Amino acid sequence: MVRWRLKSMLADELFCPSAPGPRRLTPWRRLQLAVTRSIESWPPAVFEEPFYRPPLPGAPLFVMDPVAIHEVLVHQAETFVHGALWRRITRPIWGRGLAVSEGAEWARQRRLAAPAFRPAEMKQFGPVASRAAERLLKRWRLQGPEVVQDVYEGALLWAFDAFVDSFFSPGKAEGLERNELLAHLRGLLKQAGTMRLSYFLAPDAHHDGRPSPAAANLTAFRQGVRRLICASLENGGSNLTRSLTTDPDLLEDNVSGYLAAGHDTSAVSLAWAVFLASSDLSIAAALRAEAKSVIGEGPLQPEHVEQLVSTRQVICEALRLYPPAYMMTRVCTGDARLGPHVLKSGDRVVIPTYALHRHRRWWTEPDAFKPSRFAPSASPPDRHLYMPFGAGPRICIGAAFAITELTAALATLFRSARFELAGEPPWPITDLSLRPLGGLPMKITIDGEVP
Ligand code: HEM
Repeated sequence: MVRWRLKSMLADELFCPSAPGPRRLTPWRRLQLAVTRSIESWPPAVFEEPFYRPPLPGAPLFVMDPVAIHEVLVHQAETFVHGALWRRITRPIWGRGLAVSEGAEWARQRRLAAPAFRPAEMKQFGPVASRAAERLLKRWRLQGPEVVQDVYEGALLWAFDAFVDSFFSPGKAEGLERNELLAHLRGLLKQAGTMRLSYFLAPDAHHDGRPSPAAANLTAFRQGVRRLICASLENGGSNLTRSLTTDPDLLEDNVSGYLAAGHDTSAVSLAWAVFLASSDLSIAAALRAEAKSVIGEGPLQPEHVEQLVSTRQVICEALRLYPPAYMMTRVCTGDARLGPHVLKSGDRVVIPTYALHRHRRWWTEPDAFKPSRFAPSASPPDRHLYMPFGAGPRICIGAAFAITELTAALATLFRSARFELAGEPPWPITDLSLRPLGGLPMKITIDGEVP
């Protein structure tokens, strides 16, 4: 721990958080890890070569070559689809909604939802996310000016508040039992993140029926979502509920899905960003100074978000080192060729985003925390090598929202608080998203009263 702290204080030394990387393992150990901690089972080739095919019959092809990634996600996106496993995992929450649909039905739903996520309109959600971060600071402050808290747990509360207030008429959904809805959502995400044998072995029909036996929280969650939608519509609706009401059958499926897609991903991103920024004292100081000079003492305004340049760089670098969606999978539905590899219908492809973001061929100092990679003066990384939100037609619809809310929240937290690791350095583990194993306990020191 002492070495950890000292390292982070040396100004000219880059901070390299401990995390899984290329390492040699016995085949048996690799197989064991593949079930529970997939990124730890990836062999060195996934971090070093453009392609890798595990020596097992029917194993997927790992693709780390940017040209081939473009083929899979963009150029031949209609040939490379999500496939049955994806549908089985996501269907209990998404029903027939956007993330589960394919082809013309997917395009129709994406068009319906698009107006609610226009990047230009996301600015308005910066203040909403900042207020949610202030509520979190107040919750911590109630326990004293210096407390040890799990920052990941706090970030889960923040992400839920920021999402509900942004997309369902802020302040109007107060009567809803938020905590209850959040508890059901977390239960569901946990179940979906636990790989079950039935995902692989049982036929599609087994996964079609709802409520699924595996999702005990599903009925209560859906009722909560229904109340959320009603409360929003009774108050005139939001861009999201209004654009989706043109197809009422799908409204509930999609609202459930958006909540699920945007909740844990945003929460882990904020937690990792707090951890990384506070581990490098000069970066922590720069964030604090930026927040104080751009936002000042009052509430964050929509135009502040784009001025928080250093804060956004930390968010982008946190999403590189710890991409919540640590891999993407596709199934080939026809004949295709990726580099030297010939694929036929049914072959599976993995794009291992976590390894791609630390790939030895494509990045200098791949494991180092270096937000300046994303400075306005630096050349931007290739869009098929840096993909926290995916790429091509199925790129994350909430990407602009996520960057806005995360930038606003990180600046709000660093304006009023200092964070210091209170336990062992966190280790990323693969659940539904890449989360810190055992949470992220940190000592939080808050200046005075939270505005
Ligand atoms: C840091 C936060 C987030 C990360 C890292 C993230 C990541 C991703 C990724 C990688 C994909 C593409 C998956 C694939 O191609 O297989 C995706 C899709 C999606 N995301 Fe996000 N996401 C985040 C936040 C959000 C938020 C806040 C929302 C909703 C407001 C959202 C809604 C969606 C939806 C609906 C899709 C499916 C799009 C489609 O299939 O057309 N995400 N996300």
